[in-house]
Amino acid sequence: MLIRHPDDFPSRQITDERLFQDRRAFLAAVGGAALVAMPVENLLAASRKLARAAQDKLTPYEAVTTYNNFYEFGTDKSDPAANSKDFRTRPWTVQVEGEVKKPATYAYDDFVRGFTPVERVYRHRCVEGWSMVVPWMGIPLASVIARLEPTSRAKFIEFTTILDPKQMPGQRANILPWPYVEGLRMDEAMNPLTLLVTGVYGKPLLPQNGAPLRLVVPWKYGFKGGKSIVNIRFSEAQPRTTWNIAAPNEYGFYANVNPSVDHPRWSQAKERRVGEFFKQPTLMFNGYGDQVASLYTGMDLRKHF
Ligand code: MTE
Repeated sequence: MLIRHPDDFPSRQITDERLFQDRRAFLAAVGGAALVAMPVENLLAASRKLARAAQDKLTPYEAVTTYNNFYEFGTDKSDPAANSKDFRTRPWTVQVEGEVKKPATYAYDDFVRGFTPVERVYRHRCVEGWSMVVPWMGIPLASVIARLEPTSRAKFIEFTTILDPKQMPGQRANILPWPYVEGLRMDEAMNPLTLLVTGVYGKPLLPQNGAPLRLVVPWKYGFKGGKSIVNIRFSEAQPRTTWNIAAPNEYGFYANVNPSVDHPRWSQAKERRVGEFFKQPTLMFNGYGDQVASLYTGMDLRKHF
């Protein structure tokens, strides 16, 4: 993210996007409501939503799994897919610690046991200026948190990626301080949109997308979505996070998608869908404002970028 131009992605990513008729987006847009007998302003709002839904065609699986940021496997977009083929995601453990009543090192299967993954089609907006529309499969983080029972002192939650330089060539270089760490405020973590992702397109996650477990927070820039998580820590104090440590003036703790707060080196007003030519306007909170704006009432989002 420090290196590449934000719009830099290869045109070979362009594949057949008519593969999927985004029926779900259409239904979500009209909310199942009858269009007849709707007040004009509702009709206008519905048509705006429909226009957006038409733009929210699913990004092809091929692009979702070959155009990645996962610096542990290299900084080129094609590196994660190329360099993670032998990455071992079993056995896997998730250590839970800090301000929590059930701290333990859980075997992956025990950690996810009893949860049924849900499918959520989310806009996925990278701070670099590209975006995708991805059908993630995952467990709402709120359910996992409820099972782990944080103490009343837990105000933040921190996610740490595996540290394994033998398997991850990027960790043998000084690209970032390793391991990769991300964090959320507890209320952000509890929001129903926040997912612990285990799959994509109905299949288990591939290593390049963060197998076996990664975070997805759709109203924030993609870098909040830490991959291949091995540690979850509940804390009273706000954790330091990798990109904020690497470049504090460029990447804040909150990282909410915000078209009116530019990155110091480029605008965030527009985005380009991977595989498409024309840019489109970026939406406040990536279009999820109805569900998340209230988390930030009274906060100066320029200061807390
Ligand atoms: N997680 C780890 N461990 N290492 C990374 O380099 N990159 C982040 C995020 N999670 C990253 C990471 C960034 S910058 C983005 S945009 C998203 O992963 C990309 O997710 P995707 O490749 O599945 O689209």
